[in-house]
Amino acid sequence: MNSEEPGPPTELRIGQTVDATIEKSVYRGRGLARVGGRVVFVPRAHTGDRVRGRVREVHAGWAEASLQDVLSPAPERRPSPCPYVPRCGGCVYQDLDYAAQLRAKEDILRESLARAGAPWEGPIAVRASPERGWRLRASLHFARGDAGLRLGLRPEGTRRVLDIEACLQLSDNMNRTVRKIHAALARRPKTWPRLRGLDVLESPDGELSVATLATALAPHEAPDLAFVGREAAGLSGLGVETGRGRLHWLAGSPHIEATVLSLALRVHVQSFFQANRFLYEPLAQAVLELLPGAGRALDLYAGVGLFTLPLAARDDCEVVAVERAPSAADDARANARRHRLSGIRVVRRDVGDALAATRAEPGERVVIDPPRTGLERDVVELVASRRPEAVVYVSCDPPTLGRDLARFAAHGLRADSVQVFDLFPDTFHLETVVRLLPS
Ligand SMILES: C[S@@+](CC[C@H](N)C(=O)[O-])C[C@H]1O[C@@H](n2cnc3c(N)ncnc32)[C@H](O)[C@@H]1O
Repeated sequence: MNSEEPGPPTELRIGQTVDATIEKSVYRGRGLARVGGRVVFVPRAHTGDRVRGRVREVHAGWAEASLQDVLSPAPERRPSPCPYVPRCGGCVYQDLDYAAQLRAKEDILRESLARAGAPWEGPIAVRASPERGWRLRASLHFARGDAGLRLGLRPEGTRRVLDIEACLQLSDNMNRTVRKIHAALARRPKTWPRLRGLDVLESPDGELSVATLATALAPHEAPDLAFVGREAAGLSGLGVETGRGRLHWLAGSPHIEATVLSLALRVHVQSFFQANRFLYEPLAQAVLELLPGAGRALDLYAGVGLFTLPLAARDDCEVVAVERAPSAADDARANARRHRLSGIRVVRRDVGDALAATRAEPGERVVIDPPRTGLERDVVELVASRRPEAVVYVSCDPPTLGRDLARFAAHGLRADSVQVFDLFPDTFHLETVVRLLPS
């Protein structure tokens, strides 16, 4: 079928083959086309592609099709440099020229904000990243197969494990480390049934690599895996998560070191840290530049203090860092002590509870960097009711950002600057930094 002409919408059937031209890229790496007056989303299809798809799902007003063939590629398409595309599913834009990826992300952000009722028509500065070796943390999965122990990535939405020799997002050093750990475990078949996953965190300068093995071992069996630390040369720390999710440290240190604006931070392997080794520091610099002044600052969802420390060091002011995760809050405290920044107060608590328990001060500035789900409605209200001088919202999810900006606007806080940091090149993810000022 090929019916892109205007007219009454026609029904689509599951399994039906459709040919269509992609009108625009939308969030999550999908292309939007219209077939017989109906919107059809096609994964891994880019603006200007002529594609053939097979309808997989039909909903009221829209359908989803799998990509069968690119009949005529958009001029910005390129051969992917990765042998695992498209099987891996992680880098949905890897067969798109990098400049076109950035344009697509800017358009997707504008569209997400407009759809959520928080349109932005001003300029958007987009900060690019090197495409290779940017990722600081790798999360891999074990599986057993005919060829022995397998270690690889799990394509999104599946339980399958795709073996990979090397991932272009990782540094050569990290890929080598992963292969060494795999080789050490592959020589011990007795360990295989209890192995679940592997996390590796590398320091931005590549000097330190810390690994944790997720297992179904009982706590007293964790030391049985100490050989991994001896055989995988180059690891600076090794831990084992046992069946109950408890971490047993076996060798070296559980921390890496990262320097932000001349301040060294420790980061526990279980603490959140921004994923991109090239852009975490420019991101912190941008947050600082957007928050001039010297009043008290709140750093909500503070992690290990990526924004807290430079703010306290520059402004010599009180910074209240709110972070719920024990390891990240411990890191933030240790980082403040290390640099003798006595104005920092780390509150290990849920953000909503901490806001309700902290009296507002005139001239307060607020940084918000929540997880993908964005802000609870009461957090928006609690922040707005403090009448802050400025809010900087750092977001990794355009739809929840748009929703929250619309809610802030209803309380009189409106965007005055929008920037994109391409922390996740080749993937559909994007990081946005928005400053809100009282209107
Ligand atoms: C996206 S990370 C940002 C961390 C930090 N701003 C950075 O850039 O490194 C979000 C952080 O918020 C924490 N978090 C998530 N939900 C929270 C909540 N309701 N209250 C407090 N902290 C929370 C997580 O543990 C995580 O460290």
